[in-house]
Amino acid sequence: MVEPGAGKSGNEWKATMTDLDKVLARIDAERDNSLDRLFKFLSIKSISTDPAYADECRAAAFSLAADLSTLDIAAEVHPTDGHPVVFAKSTASDRRKRVIFYGHYDVQPVDPLDLWETPPFEPRIATLPDGRRAIVARGACDDKGQVMTFIEACRAWKAVTGSIPVDVTFVIEGEEECGSKHLPGWLAAHKADLAGDIALVCDTGMWDPATPAITTALRGLVYEEVRIKGADRDLHSGVFGGAAQNPIRVLAKIIAAIHDSDGRITIPGFYDDVPELPDAVKKSWVALGMTPEKFLRQVGLAVPAGEKDRLVIEQIFSRPTCDVNGILGGYTGPGAKTVIPAEASAKISFRLVGNQDPAKIRDAFRAFVRARLPADCTAEFADHTAAPPIALDWRLPQLAEARTALTQEWGKEAVLIGCGGSIPIVADFKRLLGIDTLLVGFALDDDRVHSPNEKYDLTSFHKGARSWARILEALAV
Ligand code: BES
Ligand code: MN
Ligand code: MN
Repeated sequence: MVEPGAGKSGNEWKATMTDLDKVLARIDAERDNSLDRLFKFLSIKSISTDPAYADECRAAAFSLAADLSTLDIAAEVHPTDGHPVVFAKSTASDRRKRVIFYGHYDVQPVDPLDLWETPPFEPRIATLPDGRRAIVARGACDDKGQVMTFIEACRAWKAVTGSIPVDVTFVIEGEEECGSKHLPGWLAAHKADLAGDIALVCDTGMWDPATPAITTALRGLVYEEVRIKGADRDLHSGVFGGAAQNPIRVLAKIIAAIHDSDGRITIPGFYDDVPELPDAVKKSWVALGMTPEKFLRQVGLAVPAGEKDRLVIEQIFSRPTCDVNGILGGYTGPGAKTVIPAEASAKISFRLVGNQDPAKIRDAFRAFVRARLPADCTAEFADHTAAPPIALDWRLPQLAEARTALTQEWGKEAVLIGCGGSIPIVADFKRLLGIDTLLVGFALDDDRVHSPNEKYDLTSFHKGARSWARILEALAV
């Protein structure tokens, strides 16, 4: 890279700029336009889990396809039994490296709506108390903003050199936030069109606002809904109280039994396939210096609530968990209503690691619940999502290439981290297509993903695009 040197006129310097320099300069010059494009995308209410927003999901898919077409990339919107997949291919040639870029255009629901400072689908720029500037909207980070970092990098390469340094196949889906149900079938059906040396995913985070990261492990997920039923109707709690089973009490007792007082999960066999961290990985994580205070303070907490004998970084990256995500039953309206409800239900999820098998964990959970049902109570289950845990190979050549590119952009060594969240399709890239994945993203811990006032720092958006521009070149050799 050539820096403007003393004594050189601007023109002389320009003459010695590399293609990459020009691409980075192009991204800088396009800042406002790229924000306009992102804002348009963010204004579409593509909430995938709620059928009421199916048309908006379609609109988001078509808007992406139209945007990709402006890069001369033939984009198609493929229907599925759920929301459509956007499929696009940059021009192919036999000699070049081929990547698959995966992201999602769907977003999480926005509730509770009254906690948003401005409407979730009216994107705006906010200045944070510490002076950082950020885009605020549902999907600003997860995953529309992150997807656009990659597309903007491609756009700049195309504008400057006429092509992207590697052949890119785009697969941008609309069901990630509700479990990617129809994508494995779509991948299998389009296997012939999905050859690639590596999959690139921009849906993860940085270590901190100054330190870029590559994520090498994702937790898996089992998401269950359990409904406990008692009497055949709601009952007067004075007339029947004492004699009738209360499904809320039964459910609460079962939920309370899932963890012991050391924060360990008590379901038989739960830890069977959970490996200890390799020493080298543990050492590198310890070196990152995460403290419970630093991690929890940002959300108003102080004391880690997970397994007692584990570091907080293990609790979020490499240990399995169980959380209750929602609970429902009985009277929740204003005032008092004396009732014993006929049923109570909860949404319960498990984050999985190592070799834990989602099907086995689901069965063990259901057996655990059934074993605790008192007389007169029954349980029904609904399966919402399953995704196996992922561990990526630290020795992938593309990982080293991306790491160097990130380090150059941020002026700080990129670190290798885990991720507590899940991206269901990553396992299928390997299983169905035989392709490894490189997880690079620019989310920050304070981005409030899935929460009100979701944001994406302007620095993440801008330097994210610059990072991808560098990675695309690094992957081409
Ligand atoms: N982008 C997230 C995963 C993630 C979360 C990465 C936090 C980095 C930091 C993804 O969109 C997500 O939310 N996944 C869901 C999957 C589920 C709904 C099937 C998750 O992890 O809960
Ligand atoms: Mn995401
Ligand atoms: Mn998400």
